[in-house]
Amino acid sequence: MPDRPIPDRPAAMEPSGSYNRSSRVQSEGVAPALPLLEQAARTVAIPAAPASVCIADYGASQGRNSLAPMRLAVDTLRPRLAQGRAILVAHTDQASNDFSALFATLESNPKSYLKLDPATYAMAVGRSFYQPILPPGSVTLGWSSWAVQWLSHAPREIPDQIQIAYSRDGEAREAFARQAALDWEAFLRSRSVELHQGGALVIVTMAMTDEGDFGYRDIVAAMYGALIDLVASGFLHAEEVRRMAIPTVARRRADLLAPFAPDDRFAGFTVDHLDIFLAPDWIWSAYEQERDAALFGARWAAFNRASVYPTLAQALSGEGGEARKIAFFERLEQLTAACLAASPRPAVIPLALMVLRKGVD
Ligand SMILES: C[S@@+](CC[C@H](N)C(=O)[O-])C[C@H]1O[C@@H](n2cnc3c(N)ncnc32)[C@H](O)[C@@H]1O
Repeated sequence: MPDRPIPDRPAAMEPSGSYNRSSRVQSEGVAPALPLLEQAARTVAIPAAPASVCIADYGASQGRNSLAPMRLAVDTLRPRLAQGRAILVAHTDQASNDFSALFATLESNPKSYLKLDPATYAMAVGRSFYQPILPPGSVTLGWSSWAVQWLSHAPREIPDQIQIAYSRDGEAREAFARQAALDWEAFLRSRSVELHQGGALVIVTMAMTDEGDFGYRDIVAAMYGALIDLVASGFLHAEEVRRMAIPTVARRRADLLAPFAPDDRFAGFTVDHLDIFLAPDWIWSAYEQERDAALFGARWAAFNRASVYPTLAQALSGEGGEARKIAFFERLEQLTAACLAASPRPAVIPLALMVLRKGVD
């Protein structure tokens, strides 16, 4: 088997609307952010006409989880604008994102802001948000949920894990922490270029609890265990698993605030709000009602599949092509689901909620 480097970039979510169907954990997680998004929409500076009023949605994926926040932002901004003034919603994601699913959602979902407000317009940008991707000063209000935990790339292999938070390898942990700090600054600088003076950015991202807990313990263990089993059964090569790394990080409160030291400002931003909280685990709540362990395991495995399997699959050797990749998804999902079904437990789901204001530099 040829020696291949670790995959350079995170892959987009699983296409064909899979993320839309398996992202209720994420949609429920953002609920506490919505009142703060509403408050930001009520208070952001509105650019002088005829400049457009632009809401940017950074890391939109397939759009279902953007519907509630975008509609709230549109509804809150609307009364502040002259009658008929256009609002542009820019959904951004990586070029490989399933934008067809996003546009289909915007077109057909009854909760779409396009259906509810005729003076709104949608567009998409397929570029990494670790650079400016919208014109300078063009964004009035920014929103990003469950996206900026994805690093621009995995800085190196994780020899003993697929998730850095559970690795014991000091060098790998250091490399990921360094990359996380660089990417966080790059994200903030880029958004600062795009935001209009007086604009605001609301971010929900994976976080470490103040006690240092990444969460998802059983879920990560089940997935990594399943990969090891797939090596033992001969389906995967050990080399392939060695190259698999999910380039997501959970930042601590101190990591999120680091760029703002020592005078509470960074790239023209000030921090209006930062909270680390535990999101509800609807999969556990449903299990408590239904007592269906197989469904419990299947739901968490589907969550993993939609979010991270495409990234893991980049480490496959290429032998067997698409058929082997599909078989990989199926086997990993089945093994992970079975493992989780064997002892259902609630998951810890830590998130950070941050509101930044763009002021004068
Ligand atoms: C878990 S989904 C979140 C989707 C949605 N915002 C939500 O709350 O459910 C993360 C999204 O961030 C995108 N993403 C990751 N890295 C990115 C980058 N560098 N630039 C743009 N989007 C990125 C992924 O492609 C994916 O669609």
